[in-house]
Amino acid sequence: MIGWDPFSHPLILLRAPPPLADSRPISESKFGKSAVLGVLDRFTRPLLRLVDPEDAHSLALAALRLAPLPRPSADDARLAVTAFGLTFPNPIGVAPGLDKNALVPDALLRLGFGFVEVGTVTPRPQQGNPRPRVFRLQADQAIVNRLGFNSEGLDAVLPRLAARAGSGGIVGVNLGANKDSPDRGADYVTLIAALAPVVSYFAVNVSSPNTPGLRDLQQSGVFDELTARVVEARERVRARAGPTPVLIKIAPDLTLGELDDIVGVARRRRVDGMIVGNTTLARPPWLREQTIAQEAGGLSGRPLFALATRMLAETFVRVEDAFPLIGVGGIDSGPTAVAKMRAGARLVQLYSALVFRGLGLITEIKQALMEALHRGGHQALDELVGVDAPAMTAEPWLQ
Ligand SMILES: Cc1cc2nc3c(=O)[nH]c(=O)nc-3n(C[C@H](O)[C@H](O)[C@H](O)COP(=O)(O)O)c2cc1C
Repeated sequence: MIGWDPFSHPLILLRAPPPLADSRPISESKFGKSAVLGVLDRFTRPLLRLVDPEDAHSLALAALRLAPLPRPSADDARLAVTAFGLTFPNPIGVAPGLDKNALVPDALLRLGFGFVEVGTVTPRPQQGNPRPRVFRLQADQAIVNRLGFNSEGLDAVLPRLAARAGSGGIVGVNLGANKDSPDRGADYVTLIAALAPVVSYFAVNVSSPNTPGLRDLQQSGVFDELTARVVEARERVRARAGPTPVLIKIAPDLTLGELDDIVGVARRRRVDGMIVGNTTLARPPWLREQTIAQEAGGLSGRPLFALATRMLAETFVRVEDAFPLIGVGGIDSGPTAVAKMRAGARLVQLYSALVFRGLGLITEIKQALMEALHRGGHQALDELVGVDAPAMTAEPWLQ
């Protein structure tokens, strides 16, 4: 089974990250003119920390649904990025898991994100694992979750996405298989056929650690067949839905040999991009919240950054510009977002740091990207993508 192999892990996991330059929530002044956002962020986050993480998440979604969010000011044209035939106003996206059922994609776009990935959506509704199933590691600025694809299902999500499909903004959807599905490939095909007319792109999730056996879909023979089926499904709806890009979201826990196979298949089958990556099953030895870290599930947030960014660089050098990559895992500041792009990401996504650092992070990252452009004398963000990948991948991997 593909999973965490303790004998082939990257050395990077053994190194604790440098002390936080600044892990405090970002001040209200970062919101510029948006007082609504500043107030929402400043007063809700401390309260939300007092309740169970999953209840806090539901409350935050309810607040986003109700808040009269102003339209964000237009991004600087130099932050625009083109990938998979889409033009993103800025490269900062909401990672899936935050809005699993497509309740608030437009509110999230109004916060200043360049794109939103809703989901994971499964064809039929399912409850996921029993609660509690989300845990905060406050001292590590990390989260462990074992939600297990709790999804309201296609019939609930499709009308929501259809209702907003004409409103502009890039909204992708992350696709998953039902836990009890006899043919998981067929689940992705069903979702693609139904959702293609109403979304900007698909992310095929073969990397959640919380659905037993799902990561096995990354094994090369199975992955080849699955990729062929999803690309074919997209082709079948092309006439009525256009060429909806198909991206594959992988685990950061693959061995380099497994990554070779996956990239080989992705290139041969001509997928439109890859997303690196999902949460990790690894538990770095230097985590401070050791007791909570023992909870089963996927680890995200700050401790994931080094591993996910190394995997991104490894993917970048193997892809050789055949398609663009989205980098996700542990972005919690301007410099970490810039580092993700320099490791190979054309676009980035984040989730966990929004809990710990707040919504001001979006503006902070945009400022850092502008500074990186200015410092390097670059005209566009594309010029930063992957510049550090060769040096990063030259570092030793095995223990
Ligand atoms: C509570 C929670 C739920 C998540 N649910 C999903 C999901 O449904 N589908 C998915 O592909 N990734 C999911 N993720 C993973 C994130 O999309 C992302 O890949 C990961 O958290 C790393 O990014 P981060 O360190 O910025 O949080 C979830 C993460 C968290 C913390």
